[in-house]
Amino acid sequence: MQQVYLNGEFLPPDQARVSVFDRGFIFGDGVYEVIPVFGGRLFRLPHHLSRLDASLGAIRLRNPHTQQEWNDIFTRLLAAGSGDQSIYLQITRGVAPRDHAFPPNITPTVFAYAQPLKYSPPEQLAQGVTAVTAADIRWQRCDIKAIALLANALLRQEAIDQGAVEAILVRDGLVTEGAASNIFVVKNGRLVTPPKGPFILPGITRDLVVEIARARGIPCDELPVKIETLTSADEVWLTSSTKEILPITRIDGRPVGNGKPGPMHARTFALYKEYKQAFIQGQVD
Ligand code: PDD
Repeated sequence: MQQVYLNGEFLPPDQARVSVFDRGFIFGDGVYEVIPVFGGRLFRLPHHLSRLDASLGAIRLRNPHTQQEWNDIFTRLLAAGSGDQSIYLQITRGVAPRDHAFPPNITPTVFAYAQPLKYSPPEQLAQGVTAVTAADIRWQRCDIKAIALLANALLRQEAIDQGAVEAILVRDGLVTEGAASNIFVVKNGRLVTPPKGPFILPGITRDLVVEIARARGIPCDELPVKIETLTSADEVWLTSSTKEILPITRIDGRPVGNGKPGPMHARTFALYKEYKQAFIQGQVD
């Protein structure tokens, strides 16, 4: 990582400084985005920026930059790297003496950097990964991409401690999402993913999978997924900007379907890769 962006400046990471009184540090009072960059192009940038606007609106912060300004910042950060990368950006409410109430006239802290995209190891795609279910202990505004990720970190670590890659979260008997991913199940040739609402992050990859599947005639429903539906599914996948579409082949120690990545994953992932290739070649936006 050569340079990071902080409040209008491009700096080496060890020269970038944030106050200990930043509300991001004190309260987790901020939002973020992770944007994948394929073939030098920011994948689904308008979708990420519109989700950023939704997150900022929900925490009553103004977007500090126009689309063009964001684009210029990202382009400069990306120029120093090569290959597929990802952009991390976060905006906190800014620096003020500690007080829960919003301070008047505060300037947001804006931070962004680029890093190489770490793809899932090929064996994870070939064999699928293991997940565990866990009670969704998070708050009731999981649609906000908030930097306050303590519950997500605890849940992910619980999964890791059990030798799994992801925790599948369950609230009131319904699957919400993963600790850092969305969830799809396949049953009798139909895809099902939980509907958008306050209990899930509206994943950009999730939306793309829904869009691609429907465009190619694969039945895809956005409906509540009961825990029993998860455990009796033919296939289960997780999706995210960095993990793309990853098959989950064991949940809580039991195989999903026949315990191998399924044909629907192969088909949908091929369509996703086709779309990605067309994007890299500038044929789709
Ligand atoms: N996380 N749900 C949660 C809770 C997430 O943190 C993420 C992504 C997703 C998938 O969203 P998308 O398809 O837009 O990446 C769903 C990112 C990658 C992260 O925190 O690193």
